[in-house]
Amino acid sequence: MDMKRSSQTLQSLDRAHHMHPFTDPKAYASTGGKIISQAEHIYIYDADGNQILDGMSGLWCCNLGYSQNKIREAIYEQLGTLPYYNNFFQCSNEPAIEMAKALVDVTPAQFNRVFFTNSGSEANDTNIRLVHRYYDLLGKPQKKQIISRENGYHGSTIAAGTLSGMSYMHEQFTGVDYVHYVKQPHWFKDGADMSPEEFGVIAARSLEQKIDELGEENVAAFIAEPIQGAGGVIVPPSTYWPEIQRICDERDILLICDEVICGFGRTGSWFACETYGIKPDLMTFAKAVTNGFQPLGGVMIGDKVADVLNAGGGEFAHGLTYSGHPVSCAAGIATLQILREEKTIEKVATDIGPYMEQQWQSLADHPVVGQARVKGMVAALELVKDKNSRERLAPQSQGATFCRDAAIRSGLMVRAVGDSIVSAPPIICNKEEIDTLIARLTKALDETAAEYGIRT
Ligand SMILES: Cc1ncc(COP(=O)(O)O)c(C=O)c1O
Repeated sequence: MDMKRSSQTLQSLDRAHHMHPFTDPKAYASTGGKIISQAEHIYIYDADGNQILDGMSGLWCCNLGYSQNKIREAIYEQLGTLPYYNNFFQCSNEPAIEMAKALVDVTPAQFNRVFFTNSGSEANDTNIRLVHRYYDLLGKPQKKQIISRENGYHGSTIAAGTLSGMSYMHEQFTGVDYVHYVKQPHWFKDGADMSPEEFGVIAARSLEQKIDELGEENVAAFIAEPIQGAGGVIVPPSTYWPEIQRICDERDILLICDEVICGFGRTGSWFACETYGIKPDLMTFAKAVTNGFQPLGGVMIGDKVADVLNAGGGEFAHGLTYSGHPVSCAAGIATLQILREEKTIEKVATDIGPYMEQQWQSLADHPVVGQARVKGMVAALELVKDKNSRERLAPQSQGATFCRDAAIRSGLMVRAVGDSIVSAPPIICNKEEIDTLIARLTKALDETAAEYGIRT
């Protein structure tokens, strides 16, 4: 695209005509935002030419950075042969078929079927359709209730937005009436004097209590991210997932793992359910499946569910115009090929992940850091005024906002979530690039300490 307008003109057109996601339109109309005009390797560049290390992989999706020519070429090539065709009405296309097979090859053994969507939100809506259909076919139509977690994030359509356990979102729409919430395994926030391990079991058992409260005969599924991403990178205590798995094994409910952020290598396994030993019946994916270069999401359907749908027969009355879009699937095939051929995930597991963990943990010693959480290439810092009392730097999460802005000024893109700073850099970073990330973040933490009068 020919970029002819000046950055000032773009700024004013953006404020006048473009309504942004999860943004206060009134505030944006006066302050405007940062226009990103170019990207290369792990760096983004704003319209004024400033280089910023992208510590967020775009929106947790460009895991392989921005210079992946194989994906770009696969997209061009597909546009030249079959730019679009649908998968409705007994039709299919080669990239969708190849992508389905490629996903089956890299996901855990119970997954042999995929339903494609364009996004993670639509994939989670699809999960609801699948679990309801599954129990209907089993002759248990009353099993409709779905349990999710406080502060989980599963998307922003009406149904996925209801699955997301974020009350500030719920205040703005009327959600579906069959979703319930249980505790999140956020030890730093809710664990008080308990050890993380004790708290992990207690948080997990809130699921068991909720199943009993609703009646197992009414509950269809539990949905959770292996590590909550948008909620603040909540790395669960080691006891949490084994206890959740025990509960799901003992009860007649389906387990849905939302791998939209954790999937495709971020924690050092193809999927974080493998990192944590979780055995999901359904698995949501999106984002890094195409390295963010094309919209694609979907649900991996475990044999337990697929067998019932297949045996029961009857149309699954759900689909999207772009389900299995050939160009998105071509991008996905190329992405998976790079991950396999370049052994990217093995490197996260054995080399760059452990290095990131070690370097990130060293930030725990900084005076404004109350807790450093990290698993592979996804991480968070809880910012505090007082490490012992866990008192926050300032009301309304202003400390984290200040620190995020300081990081961006130092050339590092991170995100503020509540009172935490989160990061998910491209998983192809080398050690020097991790060092740069840590140095820029340390500078931002120092500035934050100075701003709030804390000695470093
Ligand atoms: C875990 C999780 N699930 C679902 C979604 C929704 O995906 P999308 O924005 O593609 O609809 C997100 C988005 O951040 C996510 O983090």
